[in-house]
Amino acid sequence: NTQKLWGGRFTGETDPLMHLYNASLPYDYKMYKADLEGTKVYTAGLQKLGLLTEDELTKIHYGLGEIKKEWDEDKFVRHPNDEDIHTANERRLGEIIGRDIAGKVHTGRSRNDQCVTDLRIYCRDVLNEKLFPGMTSLIEVLIKRAEEEIDILMPGYTHLQRAQPIRWSHWLSSYATYFTEDLKRLKQILERFNKSPLGAGALAGHPYGIDREFLAEGLGFDGVIGNSLVAVSDRDFVVELMFWGTLFMNHISRFAEDLVIYSTAEFGFIKLSDAYSTGSSLMPQKKNADSLELLRGKSGRVFGDLAGFLMSLKGIPSTYDKDMQEDKESLFDCLTTVEHSILIATGVVSTLTVQKDKMEGALTMDMLATDLADYLVRKGVPFRETHHISGECVALAENMGLSGIDKIPLELYQKIDSRFSEDLFETFNFEQSVERRDATGGTAKSAILKQLKNLQSQL
Ligand code: ARG
Repeated sequence: NTQKLWGGRFTGETDPLMHLYNASLPYDYKMYKADLEGTKVYTAGLQKLGLLTEDELTKIHYGLGEIKKEWDEDKFVRHPNDEDIHTANERRLGEIIGRDIAGKVHTGRSRNDQCVTDLRIYCRDVLNEKLFPGMTSLIEVLIKRAEEEIDILMPGYTHLQRAQPIRWSHWLSSYATYFTEDLKRLKQILERFNKSPLGAGALAGHPYGIDREFLAEGLGFDGVIGNSLVAVSDRDFVVELMFWGTLFMNHISRFAEDLVIYSTAEFGFIKLSDAYSTGSSLMPQKKNADSLELLRGKSGRVFGDLAGFLMSLKGIPSTYDKDMQEDKESLFDCLTTVEHSILIATGVVSTLTVQKDKMEGALTMDMLATDLADYLVRKGVPFRETHHISGECVALAENMGLSGIDKIPLELYQKIDSRFSEDLFETFNFEQSVERRDATGGTAKSAILKQLKNLQSQL
């Protein structure tokens, strides 16, 4: 253990499996850039305190730059004793600039404040570089399709039973709305977690009075975490991010499930492009919607990431405990799964084909029963009464074996209710049905264009 950074008080060797069990480098190497940035700014803070000379700082920053190049070019050679990204980078720094100088960088710092500083920076980068742009493109693609295909009608469903006619663009806009809220929620989470833990030490604070605000500013944080015990052990942001991922994947899952249904031969509303489908090893005719099924299935996995880590977190005492190292695998899995899911969903939406005839062909006259009730409401009949009357008409058409309520002769309508007159047949028009729903949020063209404009303005 003499080679380990913390090996001084040890005389015995670590059990080999314990070393592997304890090591986080296999996954936390992903934070190498954040770790190097953190050390760069931290050592500048030490220099301000007179704990490093200008010359030493220059050498340290040079060494950190070299290490970054090695990681960037995938040339960093891991040492069997490296435990995590923090110890690996520090060990390498010693090799490049000499241990006498490299040995000073950790003055007053602990891996407890270091690892969570890195994680916050890493998450911020993932959000800014991947998730925000990805979500924005997904929403844009939905808006674009909705604009282009605004004239296509389809059945709207409740209980997966045909309910009322809507526009296809209304469906697209509904998911654009969910995803817009998701994007805003994610930005709020970033605002909450972009605070610096650095300079909190192991738990008790910094013994040389380091300027934590200077460190925070240098690392792009909006302020510092005001209690050192919290700074080293707060993982609420990890939980919030995974909750966010879980909720987003829930939306993605429902979106995917709709499209799975719409893509079956029985519905035939949409066709997935080959790029997002796969075949069967046995049945030559098969084209399966695997992309959609995976979007749906992976929502379970992301919820598992959240549930697993919450379970690890719940019983641990104040400040840092090694249980917290479990934050990373769950969180990284969640972030990667979400990032890829966003890209796949975007690809699916931008390449699928809409079968307008199938969508509109699935509209049936019974879906206008509410409109028929509304017809009598316009003649002054209370809705509770018109609902009942319209129901009787549906039953009559069914009993007579007619293809729809539009086929009932006027005399029979008037037998059910004398307030029916010839103009009732104008009700049986799907286009007019959707156009009547022009209040904010409805399925009329004008209402949808308003929604899309509103969504666009939030991007
Ligand atoms: N690899 C550790 C983690 O990710 C770093 C912190 C270790 N701190 C400690 N006192 N052992 O959580």
